[in-house]
Amino acid sequence: MSAEPFRTSLLPDTGVVSEGDVTIGGVSLRDLAATYGTPLFVYDEATLRSRCREAASVFDDGVAFASKSFLCGAMARVAFEEGLCIDVATGGELDLVLRSGVPANRIIMHGNNKSHDELERCVAVGVHRLVVDNFDEIERVRQLVTPDAPLNCLVRVTPGVEAHTHEYIRTGQEDTKFGFSVASGDARRAISALREIPGVSVHGVHAHIGSQIFEVAGYVETLSILSEFTRDDGFDELCIGGGLGVAYVASEEALSVTQWGEALRDAAREARLAPHVRLLAEPGRSIVAQAAVTLYRVGAVKHVTQRTYMAVDGGMSDNPRPVLYGSGYEAFDVDHPRAPRVQKVRLVGKHCESGDVLIDEAWLPAETTVDSIVATPVTGAYGYSMASNYNRVPRPAVVFVHNGEARQVLRRETFDDLARLEV
Ligand SMILES: Cc1ncc(COP(=O)(O)O)c(C=O)c1O
Repeated sequence: MSAEPFRTSLLPDTGVVSEGDVTIGGVSLRDLAATYGTPLFVYDEATLRSRCREAASVFDDGVAFASKSFLCGAMARVAFEEGLCIDVATGGELDLVLRSGVPANRIIMHGNNKSHDELERCVAVGVHRLVVDNFDEIERVRQLVTPDAPLNCLVRVTPGVEAHTHEYIRTGQEDTKFGFSVASGDARRAISALREIPGVSVHGVHAHIGSQIFEVAGYVETLSILSEFTRDDGFDELCIGGGLGVAYVASEEALSVTQWGEALRDAAREARLAPHVRLLAEPGRSIVAQAAVTLYRVGAVKHVTQRTYMAVDGGMSDNPRPVLYGSGYEAFDVDHPRAPRVQKVRLVGKHCESGDVLIDEAWLPAETTVDSIVATPVTGAYGYSMASNYNRVPRPAVVFVHNGEARQVLRRETFDDLARLEV
């Protein structure tokens, strides 16, 4: 990074930069900060909808939005309205999606340790698919499912593929807590065991090799392995999971959802996947990441010998990704988006933790100082959904902007909210 002005390619689709302001969905970021306070997640509804539509059109019916990347009722409804199923990984996610009005038959349930209660609810409401992860789960399924209380499932398998990404978000290799290994024979044994349970229908296999993946090679290899593995099973679905990488900084380049889907379709043909098998995926990050920016207010600027620290009113509680994975982000000053970014600072949060760093080397205009509104783009995925109350910091509000209007979809947490569990 350098003294260049901020590159607008990192903004949501409707982002417009003028001399002294940035608008998203036709709404000024400065006005949003003034109305709703900071920190604030601002999502562009047009970007969310268009990414969902891309996924719905390039994959077959049953393609899902991975809600762990960002979940609230409004988001679940957007994904559902645009033709996607919703993938959930816990009883809590399942509950929220059901409360949002999405029908159970559009929900896909994941999880590597589903409790009896979670499984019971899945059967009771009739989820679209349960993705079975382990042999203990199969035993629980055996106790719950009958021809009168049936279950449609996929079997989560590990194809033995090493995705090129951070080890914490790599899941396709043999040494993982997720799924049944193809190579060891466990996946085959799981399919047979499930098929013996009256009321259980096995529709196919599912693999998720990792997240923030920029190359299609790992997916191509996975498709080839799974196509071969299921050749004689008569399945009607194959789900390749999520994981498509997104550009967080201007120097990164990522495939679009459409390009990814088309590459996977080619790979499926190459792997001679039977034409009737629905090719499915579960993108999360690539649907929501670029749709949002986070607005912060600068509260303190400290010059020490080695560098300048600029502290904002959020931090690792609303964006843990830099701390967890060393992820890079960029920043811009909402009032001076076109100014050369000549000031190098370490953008830090307000938490009582030295590691509470949002951007190790952020470039901002000379004008940026105390009370400036600083935005970090591409924060729509795994920010709010991984947010915590560390240091009893309330979670930010979330607004959706669209056609010149803002609507708050999640209000800011209050100290009363934080105290509600005290007994
Ligand atoms: C099973 C499964 N599907 C889909 C996803 C979504 O991945 P991404 O948000 O990288 O697209 C994940 C992420 O962890 C996952 O575990």
